[in-house]
Amino acid sequence: MEKKKNILTGIRPTGKLHLGHYFGAIINWTKLQDKYNTYIELADVQALTDNFHNPEKVRESVREVAIDLLSSGIDPKKSTIFVQSMIPEIAELTVFYSNMVTIARLYRNPTVKVEIKQKKNLFGKEGESVTYGFLGYPVSQAADITALEGELVPVGEDQLPLIEQCREIVRKFNSIYGQTLKEPQAYLSETPRIKGLDGNEKMGKSLNNAIFLSDNREIVSKKIMGAITDTNKIRKNDPGNPDNCMVYYYHNLVNKENLKTVNKECRAGSRGCVDCKKELIESMMNFLKPIQEKRKYYEEHSEIVDEILKTGTEKARIKAKEVMNRVRKNMMIDYFD
Ligand code: TRP
Ligand code: SF4
Repeated sequence: MEKKKNILTGIRPTGKLHLGHYFGAIINWTKLQDKYNTYIELADVQALTDNFHNPEKVRESVREVAIDLLSSGIDPKKSTIFVQSMIPEIAELTVFYSNMVTIARLYRNPTVKVEIKQKKNLFGKEGESVTYGFLGYPVSQAADITALEGELVPVGEDQLPLIEQCREIVRKFNSIYGQTLKEPQAYLSETPRIKGLDGNEKMGKSLNNAIFLSDNREIVSKKIMGAITDTNKIRKNDPGNPDNCMVYYYHNLVNKENLKTVNKECRAGSRGCVDCKKELIESMMNFLKPIQEKRKYYEEHSEIVDEILKTGTEKARIKAKEVMNRVRKNMMIDYFD
């Protein structure tokens, strides 16, 4: 039988997960885990690059994200979930890879460029106080990927420059020290980025436009009641255009079976926005129910979550050690056992 390919993907633990993560990434991972040898990294070291002043948040989020993943279909028997900071080989590789990349190249990385602009507050006005750690996170991400011999890396489009940078590092390393590392490939998820409640192209925690997988009915109701609808539909019986409505956009995610009816009635003016939102709240809660039931189970059995993370990290570490041994040997720094 042909050997299963390795999948390596990662997520920054900086808060609980929302619908954007679910539809944009997790659904995809739940399918991939059936076919591939899947590793999911809780990238706490990477989260600390811009949250170094907030260690409690990162620590708490490692557990919360693990619970969100387990509750939404990631099966620990199929996927290895591990904690980045508990694999010291990743930090070691980062040091050696940092010789393979110039500072100018890091500054030119489009993802890094955009993020530096967005983080004006953290990095000062012109980004002149960008930290060494933040600028170097693509190097550390290359270490994540190659330490687990990730062959396919499922990511969103915004991450493509990071995968490209990883490939460059791998090629350079192999050309100097001999064939040592596997060159990964990006695996673009077919599910698109999910828009926010406010119509923003991206759903994000810091954008304040997200529905979290753990939101209760009261919070979901409030958020959906405040969602952007077709501004030309003012009175209940005005005909509307669902294409200009975020409520319709979410009906399309969690109430597919009634989508045609919603569309028809909206256009005909026989459906009021308040009723339409109420229907969406019901569908959303039905969608979230099984996820939240599982979450409750894991919250009450935190020892199970600990065990999954511990076992996953041990398994990932075995792989990382193999790679590290090879790296040491080929770099001629394997002085003694
Ligand atoms: N940078 C990724 C993000 O912000 C998270 C991540 C960390 C990652 N390590 C990774 C993704 C390794 C893929 C592979 O979404
Ligand atoms: Fe949106 Fe529904 Fe109102 Fe139409 S009726 S504009 S789909 S909320």
